[in-house]
Amino acid sequence: MLPRDVISSGPLILRPPVEGDTEGIVKTCGDPVTAWFLPALPSPYAVEDARDYFAMAAAKWEAGGAEFAISENGQYVGSVGVRPPDPWGVAEIGYVVAPWARGKDVASTAARAVTDWVFDHGIRRVELQTAVENVASLRVAYKSGFREEGRRRDAKSMRDGRYVDLVTFARLKGDVVGAAEPYLPFFEDGRLSDGVVRLEPLAAGDAADFHRMVTEPSVAAYSMMPPSTMEDDERRCRYTGYWWVSGQRIELAIRDAASGAFAGHVQLTQVLPALGQAMIGYSLVPDFRGKGFMTRAVNLLVDWAFAHTALHRIVAGTESGNVASHRVLERTGFQREGVHRELFPKADGGRVDDVAWARLRSS
Ligand SMILES: CC(C)(COP(=O)(O)OP(=O)(O)OC[C@H]1O[C@@H](n2cnc3c(N)ncnc32)[C@H](O)[C@@H]1OP(=O)(O)O)[C@@H](O)C(=O)NCCC(=O)NCCS
Repeated sequence: MLPRDVISSGPLILRPPVEGDTEGIVKTCGDPVTAWFLPALPSPYAVEDARDYFAMAAAKWEAGGAEFAISENGQYVGSVGVRPPDPWGVAEIGYVVAPWARGKDVASTAARAVTDWVFDHGIRRVELQTAVENVASLRVAYKSGFREEGRRRDAKSMRDGRYVDLVTFARLKGDVVGAAEPYLPFFEDGRLSDGVVRLEPLAAGDAADFHRMVTEPSVAAYSMMPPSTMEDDERRCRYTGYWWVSGQRIELAIRDAASGAFAGHVQLTQVLPALGQAMIGYSLVPDFRGKGFMTRAVNLLVDWAFAHTALHRIVAGTESGNVASHRVLERTGFQREGVHRELFPKADGGRVDDVAWARLRSS
C-alpha cells in the first residue's frame, strides 16, 4: 500500500484530489488536446464525470496505487497517477496538465517526483507509455529520466478510431537521472526559411504529396527502400516528432515559400552522437527541379545543424550516375571522400557504386 502522502517538488504540491479541484479537472479534461490523447475520458466532460473520477481515485488508492492532484500556489494544475503495482514491484504512471499550465515543466517535475517517491515505497520499476504522436508527453518522459525500451505497434486507438503505436519507457530504481538536453533541438520558430524555400517538419497532412513523390519513377529509381504504400507513408509522416525528440532523425517537407506547395523532402538520418555524424538525404518533386530549391534546402538544414547541434560531419551518399545530386552537394560545400564499390543493389539484380560525400562543421 502506498501512503497518502503529500509530495513537494519545487513550486508543486502533489496531494490526493479534493472537491475544490472540480472546476480545474473539468476544464482540463474538456480541453481538446487532453480529449485527443486520453480517448478513454468522457467527451464532453461534465461535473458528474469529475465525481466519477474522485470515486475512481479513491478506489485506486484502496487497490495499492495512487492518484494525486498537482497544485501550484493552491490552484489545480494537473493530475498524476500510479497504477497499483504488480507482484514484481512494477507500476505505471500517467499524467495530465491543465492547458494554462503547460510548457512550464509541471508534468516532468511531477513525473520525476512521483517516481522517486514510489521507489521509496517498495516499487522497483516504473513504466510509462505514450502515443508516438504525443511529442509533449515523449519529451516529458525523457526529461523525467525515463529510458525508451521499445514500441508497441497499433496498441491503442485514438478518439477517431485510428490505431497508433505506443512508445514504452521505464525507470528503474537506481537509474542515474541526468539532464536530458535533446541531441536534436526543435527549430526555434518551427521552420527554417531563406524566403524562397521553407523547411517544416513532415506532417500527416503531407502524406499524399510525399507518397506521390516517392513513387514517381525518377525518385523511386534511387530509393534503397522497398516500395511503400500510402498507409506506410502516412505512418512515417506521423513519426516525425518522435524521431526528432528521441534524437534519431529529422524529416522535413520542403515548401515553395511563396505558395506553401509541397516541393520535396530533406532529412537527417543515421545520427551517431558518438561520432558527431549524421547523413543527409533528399528528393524533389519534378515540377520544382532546376530552380535551385534543393541547394537552398540543403544549405538551410546543414547550416542550422552546425549552429544548433553538436554534429561535426554531415555525410551523403549518391549513386555514381546521379549527376544532379552531385551538383547539389558540390554547390553546398560537400567534398567527395571516396567510393563504396557496388554498395547499392538495383531492381535488375545488379549493383552500383556509391560516391561518399561529407561537409565538415568548419568548412
Ligand atoms: C503531455 C503533457 C502532460 C505535458 O505537460 P507539460 O507540463 O506541458 O510538460 P513539460 O512542460 O514538463 O514538458 C513538455 C515538453 O514538451 C515540449 N513540447 C510541447 N508540445 C510540443 C510539440 N508539439 N512539439 C515539440 N515539443 C513540444 C515542451 O517544449 C517541453 O519541452 P522542453 O522543456 O524541452 O521545452 C500535457 O501536454 C498534457 O496534459 N497533454 C494532454 C494529456 C496527455 O497527453 N497526457 C499524457 C498521456 S501519455
